[in-house]
Amino acid sequence: MHILAIDTSCDETSVAVTDGRKVLSNVIYSQVLLHKKWGGVVPSIAKRAHEERINFVVESACHPRGGGDPELLNSIDYIAVTQGPGLAVALEVGIKKAKELAKKYRKKLIAVNHLEGHIYSAFVQNSQGNPKRDFNFPYLALIISGGHTEFVIFKNHFEYEIIGQTLDDAAGEALDKAAKLLGLGYPGGPVLERLAKEVRNKDGHNFPRPMLKSKDLNFSFSGLKTSFYYFLKSNNHVIPVPIRGQAPAGIQLNGSPIRSGMTKESKYDLRQLASSFQEAVFDTLIKKTEKAIKFTTINQLIVVGGVVANFRLRKLMRDLIKKYNGEVLFPSYKYLTGDNAAMIGIVAGFKAEKSLFVEDVGRLDRIPRMSL
Ligand code: KG4
Ligand code: ZN
Repeated sequence: MHILAIDTSCDETSVAVTDGRKVLSNVIYSQVLLHKKWGGVVPSIAKRAHEERINFVVESACHPRGGGDPELLNSIDYIAVTQGPGLAVALEVGIKKAKELAKKYRKKLIAVNHLEGHIYSAFVQNSQGNPKRDFNFPYLALIISGGHTEFVIFKNHFEYEIIGQTLDDAAGEALDKAAKLLGLGYPGGPVLERLAKEVRNKDGHNFPRPMLKSKDLNFSFSGLKTSFYYFLKSNNHVIPVPIRGQAPAGIQLNGSPIRSGMTKESKYDLRQLASSFQEAVFDTLIKKTEKAIKFTTINQLIVVGGVVANFRLRKLMRDLIKKYNGEVLFPSYKYLTGDNAAMIGIVAGFKAEKSLFVEDVGRLDRIPRMSL
């Protein structure tokens, strides 16, 4: 059963062809370079780039070897698309294309929740059917991305219970904002990781760990960002100055465009600042995960989303789960940590088995704040 899946939830235009849990092709056209200078994703730029690129990405995914008639499109059984959560104007582009393809090829349409996609990214296989890992419910899932930080009990296919989430910024967003304050550009997570790798004493500054004393499983990262800001300010670390009056409407990340290269040397080592901030975020994630393991008594973890590209975080999660004789699953390949259509296709495969199709294709609409 072949599925053509589309994800345009944020700043990657992605299309995949999947077969059950196998990925036959997956193309991601990243917009990172377009958004970089604004220090975050600009909705109007994202929308235009998705529109300009979507046909090219569909074609590339359908005949990955190039040229001729689309090889895979002929054998497609269903079309799948991300309905939300995400950026409204970006989601719209993928949904429009999915409707158009469903109509043209007379295929049924499957709407997928992007967060479900992230959870299933731990079970995606390559075209050879590897890794073989099977489902063994229940799992405790932690989604950590630029937009989400959520604990979910994954009880069975399509059965979720959210037991904790961020009350303000997501973990990835906190990393992005800290990197921005340091003048390191966007996205911040990978840059902080590179700098932190060179540091031996990982937690020299010991920044505050938010919400660790609270009894629940919620997170809050905006206070950490604020205390980091005041720390830099009070130590005369020059914070990059926004360029006034040039930003397109609707910039995210409290964003004003930033000029790169504006930080002077602070009295603190940039690598130590990066490492200590990263450590504060990760330590919070680990301690809350430990609390969640105790609360749910589930020792099978799924940790997914852009931030698990980070090797330090993976190590800390592995160390934690060892204490509980459990197992932690990450996305099966690195490209599956960030946004991609392959994970959407895999969810759609399970939905097709249960005949969960969109009933009225014409009325399918984006849900920017869709939850699990
Ligand atoms: O899942 P994702 O690609 O997009 C969303 O759905 O939000 O996640 C993007 C987030 C960004 O905040 C980015 O800084 C973070 O993932 N990220 C990382 C790393 N690579 C990406 N954070 C820490 N270490 C990394 N290596
Ligand atoms: Zn995502």
